[in-house]
Amino acid sequence: MSEKPDPMTVPFGTVFCDWMATAPSDDGVYQYAGKVEPYGDFSISPAAHALHYGSAIFEGLKAHRQIDGSLAIFRLDDHVARMCQSAAQLRLPVPEEGLLRQMIIDSVEANVEEVPPPPGSLYIRPTLIGTEPNIGAAATPTSEALLYIVNCPVGDYFKGGVRPLTLLVEEEIPRTTPQFGMVKSGANYAMALAPTLDAMARNEAVDQILFATGGDITETGAANFFLANDERVVTRQLDSSFLHGVTRSSVLALAADLGYEVEERPIELSELQEWADNGEAFLSGTAAVLSPVGTMLRGGEEIIFGDGQPGANTLRLRESLVAIQNGSGDDDHGWRTAVRS
Ligand SMILES: Cc1ncc(COP(=O)(O)O)c(C=O)c1O
Repeated sequence: MSEKPDPMTVPFGTVFCDWMATAPSDDGVYQYAGKVEPYGDFSISPAAHALHYGSAIFEGLKAHRQIDGSLAIFRLDDHVARMCQSAAQLRLPVPEEGLLRQMIIDSVEANVEEVPPPPGSLYIRPTLIGTEPNIGAAATPTSEALLYIVNCPVGDYFKGGVRPLTLLVEEEIPRTTPQFGMVKSGANYAMALAPTLDAMARNEAVDQILFATGGDITETGAANFFLANDERVVTRQLDSSFLHGVTRSSVLALAADLGYEVEERPIELSELQEWADNGEAFLSGTAAVLSPVGTMLRGGEEIIFGDGQPGANTLRLRESLVAIQNGSGDDDHGWRTAVRS
């Protein structure tokens, strides 16, 4: 293994593992050699479809070191399914699920020595880009594509570990177009960048923007949004306007297991003060895990949840999620895929 910075002390996603898996396709069928190759640059045409017409999607999932020293990928099949759905939405050649699954497992097994101990983990980034060299193809799908998987040893996504986050509510500019929010495509993140940077420039304390166009809460730039109290766990109902987080569905299942009443419904900004007085808010995501929200800024108003510190229900749900991820809890839902370590 080459000498690399400590993933726990550098920004999330900036250290890359030694091995990657790639599979090009020029006829809709991905050609995987059945083995990984050294991580490194590759060349694509300057006219590649992805560079001009945005045919690029990705996934984000994690492999976790288990308390018994083994290694498991969290909700592999759900991430594979979501990636195939994103590919179909962008009319990219859809990979065969078994192939994508195997490439992910191969990449993790090849990079096993680089998986940091908890709370670190191995972040897995499957990526799919349209590579057909054709700048006349604005209204036609790419005929050629490249599927590849890179891995990063990672620590915390939000600097400072588990701490209460500050969210700024954006009520005018949506994160992306409503019919496209559920696709994990780079274009969605590009659209969210300018409003996010502009808002953050106005307030340095902000960790994330909560998009709530016209008062209707969807999600933040990198995580789903939840409210909770001692009885209930609430999040937005699924529709095409936001990313259907795998962590979101995990939290809902665990909340039901723990005896909470689970509600999937529209959340209005007007409800927040009441929840701040008598409940909690948190974010969920592969990178964010389950992160407490301490303060929300809406216009000139500051909404502080409880005493501004992580709430007991948030921490309880986080613990039960982390226990399944790190192997200390029973895997009742079959979410762990063991890989060779
Ligand atoms: C915009 C957005 N929403 C929600 C999520 C959470 O999704 P997941 O729990 O599948 O990681 C993410 C990514 O991690 C995201 O980028």
